[in-house]
Amino acid sequence: MFEQIADKLKNAKKIVFVTGAGISQESGIPTFRGKDGLWRKYDPMKLATIDSFYEDPKLVWEWYEDRRKNILSAQPNPGHKAIADLEKYKEVVVLTQNIDGLHQRAGSTNVLELHGSIIRIKCTVCDFHDETTTIFENLPPLCKCGNILRPDVVWFGEALPQDIWNNAIIHANSCDIMIIAGTSLAVSPANTLPIYAKQNNAILLEINPDETIMSGDMELSIKTTSAKALPELVSILES
Ligand code: OAD
Repeated sequence: MFEQIADKLKNAKKIVFVTGAGISQESGIPTFRGKDGLWRKYDPMKLATIDSFYEDPKLVWEWYEDRRKNILSAQPNPGHKAIADLEKYKEVVVLTQNIDGLHQRAGSTNVLELHGSIIRIKCTVCDFHDETTTIFENLPPLCKCGNILRPDVVWFGEALPQDIWNNAIIHANSCDIMIIAGTSLAVSPANTLPIYAKQNNAILLEINPDETIMSGDMELSIKTTSAKALPELVSILES
């Protein structure tokens, strides 16, 4: 599968992953686009924007609580675990659009969450923020200050956390290999990260059963699932 770039993989010092919903698909977490994607069933403009949240916070919270239940009962799959195992051999950084925390639960130690985390909550008004795995009984949950709490995720139209984004660019600019796994690269600015890497002569490798808008720019595009491909990549470095 990876034969044609095996030497480059072995020689690489730093590998940066850009991951998306597809990498957690084999953990039972649905993707957004594609046949069974969430955005086929739900309107993102009603569930994933700050305006929709203020219009109907209960509805948005109900949707996030359903997703949180699913995510909290899900387990990291062999794709997540392979990325964590790679740390034995290489400097590895994971730039993820996922909010599910599965990379960290698989053991990855250097994960930048570009779109926040469904495990974290924050107040819409004061500085309060926290991590919680409890499911709220009354929605929307309220902060001690009396205002509404929200999931600490990035919604459409919101900026990415500035420090995380700046660091993501630094890592994209300084990697030898960028592996883009399980993302349609449909959402900006995360989808510009491969461009930074390419401009700095990194090798681009994609793992996705489907074609993406950047498949043609890849040194190698592996058309299979991440849980199948990534353990093979680790076995190359073990050999
Ligand atoms: P998408 O749903 O847009 O894309 C998922 C990608 O994963 C598709 O290209 C699939 O072909 C691929 N895929 C599916 N199963 C896979 C598997 N088992 N192994 C590998 N690849 C697989 O999800 P994202 O690219 O993550 O943002 O979407 C980016 C952002 O759009 C999300 O973070 C979210 C969404 O709207 C916000 O909510 C702000």
